[in-house]
Amino acid sequence: MSFIKQQLQTIFSQALAKAYPSLADSSIEITASNQAKLADYQCNSAMKLAKLAQTNPRDFANQWCAQIPNAGLIQSIEVAGPGFINIRLAPAAIAQHLMDMLHDQQLGVQAKEIQSQKIIVEFSSPNTAKQMHVGHLRSTIIGDCLARVFEFLGCDVLRLNHVGDWGTAFGMLIAYLKLEHPHVLDGSETADLTALASWYKAAKKRFDEDETFKKNSQLEVVALQSGNAESLKAWQMICQISRQNYQEIYDLLDVKLNERGESFYNPFLAEIITDLETKGLIQVSDGAKCVFLEGFVSREGEPLPMIIQKSDGGYNYSTTDVAAMRHRTQVEGTDRIIVLTDAGQSLHFQMVHKVAEKAGYLINPKDHRVRFDHVTFGLVLGDDGKKIKTRAGDSEPLINLIYTAIDEALKIIQQRDHDLTEAEQKHLAEVLGVNAIKYADLVGNRVADYKFSYERMLRFEGNTAAFLMYAYVRIMSIKRKITERQNATNAIQASTVMHLAHPSELALGLHLARFDEVILQLTDDLLPNRLCEYLYNLAEHFNAFFRDCRVEGSPEETSRLLLCELSAKILETGMKLLGLKTANKM
Ligand code: ARG
Repeated sequence: MSFIKQQLQTIFSQALAKAYPSLADSSIEITASNQAKLADYQCNSAMKLAKLAQTNPRDFANQWCAQIPNAGLIQSIEVAGPGFINIRLAPAAIAQHLMDMLHDQQLGVQAKEIQSQKIIVEFSSPNTAKQMHVGHLRSTIIGDCLARVFEFLGCDVLRLNHVGDWGTAFGMLIAYLKLEHPHVLDGSETADLTALASWYKAAKKRFDEDETFKKNSQLEVVALQSGNAESLKAWQMICQISRQNYQEIYDLLDVKLNERGESFYNPFLAEIITDLETKGLIQVSDGAKCVFLEGFVSREGEPLPMIIQKSDGGYNYSTTDVAAMRHRTQVEGTDRIIVLTDAGQSLHFQMVHKVAEKAGYLINPKDHRVRFDHVTFGLVLGDDGKKIKTRAGDSEPLINLIYTAIDEALKIIQQRDHDLTEAEQKHLAEVLGVNAIKYADLVGNRVADYKFSYERMLRFEGNTAAFLMYAYVRIMSIKRKITERQNATNAIQASTVMHLAHPSELALGLHLARFDEVILQLTDDLLPNRLCEYLYNLAEHFNAFFRDCRVEGSPEETSRLLLCELSAKILETGMKLLGLKTANKM
């Protein structure tokens, strides 16, 4: 729980025990107020508790509040309406907490319950021999953000790239290459992913039209799966070309991933079937081995099984995912699994989750119940509301989207007033372009679709990456100006007091003090847009503070400088957690 809420909980619990000893162990809820004019925090538990005590809620709340000392964290409390308790925090207590945050590497964010956990975040997961598409971009950006948050909290995070690197597609592609591009297979000719992807398309077409080719492809799959050396070599070559292409994108986005594709789980698939059979979970239907799950029915109302082994003996996507679940909990000993894909795979993961649960794969060797989250997201649409396409009508390779954003960023930077050298402009454009793409992806509730627009994502006003970057540059330059003059690095460390007096100063202070609330919330609902919103509001609060409160040369200079310092730290840390970089000049 966040620091302030925890403190308030303790104060309210102790007071409750005094006022109503019989209710001493009741749970009470403290929430941040959404009406800053009325309160900083609220406690709405009096209504529920009054029922237990069989009294009037208002009287109950008044009795309760009578036991709360107006000292320390709380400045004042007030009972409103039917028994809401409005809480105002003491500015001195907020200021003290901000000072503690300033001297804490974690900026006051502490997650005791989860910091020793091992957490797998599986994201990106493109398909070998195909171009990554915008869905994979979303998975990469959101997944990286979540991984960063858990890493920041001290968790042992394993970032996995569940690449689609196995299955029938490779049989087709290898059969096709043998016929059409044997020199690529023997290594005397090189190919890139664009070539591979187009050959894959051609192979697929031939597979559907040509019976002999289809047979050959199937034989190739068998050869590959039985570990034929030549087939494996061809497969590795295909994987390597794809990998290089993906890596270029990950480098541009500054995203770290460990590749552990579908092929990794291949050796465990047969075991999974045997294990599920032993556990009595498998039923044969039309020759296929299936798991029937309660509550899963088709549109026609028929039971909807999860097919785990096809009638021809082949394994599928589901088999691999059940094997992955087991491996992650039993071998990796993970406490939590988070998988990111578009919302289209919801049903699949609900079923995988259920099967894993039934098979007992969700209890790890530490006897800890593993939490599984399928983190879904909506589509990325073009400005016209349709799927993003190139002028030629193909779906746009992802890398082009990123390079275009960088080019557009450079154009905008060139038109602005600044004193940046050409090299600095180029560097800034790279940072801004990538930041803009990421932020546009993170700023809305991930479940919703969003429209991809360079013009919108690169704006300097509104809730955008550039706005946050600019706010950071501004705070830093204010700080620099003052510290240069008073050589105040020493002053900052020496001084230990902060005063929050002006309403804008207080509003900024309270907002900063709530940083841990937003981060802790994020570990549960896995919604990065809340952090975006928090940082945007932080920038707005800062702007209001700077407009209303003189910093340089004022009697409160040192205290206000500390507030600038903490604002910069939190803004920078928050941006980092979103995967955004800051700039020093703009
Ligand atoms: N490769 C898949 C796709 O592009 C995503 C993989 C998601 N992860 C998983 N464990 N199935 O749709």
